[in-house]
Amino acid sequence: MKVLVIGSGGREHAIACSLSKSSLVDRLFWTPGNAGTVGLADNPGLAVDDLEGLLNFAKREKVELTVVGPEGPLAGGIADLFFDQGLRIFGPVSAGARIEGSKIFAKRLMEKSGIPTSDFAEFHDMSSARNYIKSIDPPYVIKADGLAAGKGVIIAHTADEAKKALSSMFEKKIFGDSGTKIVVEDFLEGEEATVLALCDGKNVLPLISSQDHKPVFDGDKGPNTGGMGAIAPAPAVSRTVMDRVMDRVLVPLVNEFNAGGIDYKGVIYAGLMICEGNPFVVEFNCRFGDPEAEAVLPLLESDLCEVILQTVNGELKNRVLKWRDGYSCDVVLVSGGYPGKYEKGKKINIPETQHDDIVVFHSGTKMKDNVPVTNGGRVLNIVGFGKTLTGAVERAYRHVKSINFENMFYRKDIGQRGLRTQKKST
Ligand code: GLY
Repeated sequence: MKVLVIGSGGREHAIACSLSKSSLVDRLFWTPGNAGTVGLADNPGLAVDDLEGLLNFAKREKVELTVVGPEGPLAGGIADLFFDQGLRIFGPVSAGARIEGSKIFAKRLMEKSGIPTSDFAEFHDMSSARNYIKSIDPPYVIKADGLAAGKGVIIAHTADEAKKALSSMFEKKIFGDSGTKIVVEDFLEGEEATVLALCDGKNVLPLISSQDHKPVFDGDKGPNTGGMGAIAPAPAVSRTVMDRVMDRVLVPLVNEFNAGGIDYKGVIYAGLMICEGNPFVVEFNCRFGDPEAEAVLPLLESDLCEVILQTVNGELKNRVLKWRDGYSCDVVLVSGGYPGKYEKGKKINIPETQHDDIVVFHSGTKMKDNVPVTNGGRVLNIVGFGKTLTGAVERAYRHVKSINFENMFYRKDIGQRGLRTQKKST
């Protein structure tokens, strides 16, 4: 069958690579893609927000399955549009995508259905938010209500920092209209982890867990990014914790969708804080995580296309997935200056050779004069595999040394948090 992947990041490169291995896929399209598209898929060059263009392309080319990577088109209603035309698409309708598109919606839904999350208050103006901050203790977690490319959360450690954060959102509008409604929530102490799950409208099937590393510098210092690296599976998510995530988070969420008449078919991303073995939801997203997908999907031995089709067709009941034994570690190479200002167009020197225990996924790259150049903040994902987490980490970092571009930067401690947790639990 013909399959179309929408998006341009490392997540979509990981999805496209897994799909390309499926015997069900005869022809793969990936748009708008990046330098990783070359030799893997055909690129029609359509933007992620060109919903009509994407629909027309899928109809014209008789695409039988469209897989949506990023949240923007889902929040914008691409699944509704495709469903209306009888086209198969993997990703929730816009009513379901609101779990990511509105933090206020997600918090209210969790409160209503008893899904564990931190206490919160919502504000639509700066002065009430400021008054509230005066009445509680730091640190303050301040979130823009709407989509903000993964950067809409500010953790303020003092009242002064909180005031500045509020002013940046309400007055300077750093997140545009996304930040003119906000949530202030209690700070949770614990270990962060991600559980991605497939939902076919009724049944929910968790994938192996993962752990993102969001702050830009080693030791989890500095501002948050889209993600500087990830490991899978996450030692913080034991079998008991995973069972609790199913019982307390995923099943109640799907029940809530059903009660609200939302036919959610796609990925549920549960961003969690594990506090003494109990999962609390930090955020829900409506798609695979990035860089979590780059760590999780290569470990999937089952056919991704088949399981996506089962998700879309409502056939996940009793589905069991097969996983490669061991661990993965994804180190993200970024442009110097990211998540602030950075330059693009730097030539990337990257060796051709690849082997079973290393894979490279492109993010912000493009081809220029037949060579890959940087084209974004997050540039490449170097994923190492190993029977142990230590082995996966070492393999990834060894390969990082063979790649370079001007002003390349990366965290040196991806996986160390997971290794510490592993050590504690043995
Ligand atoms: N890694 C965070 C996200 O995908 O939102």
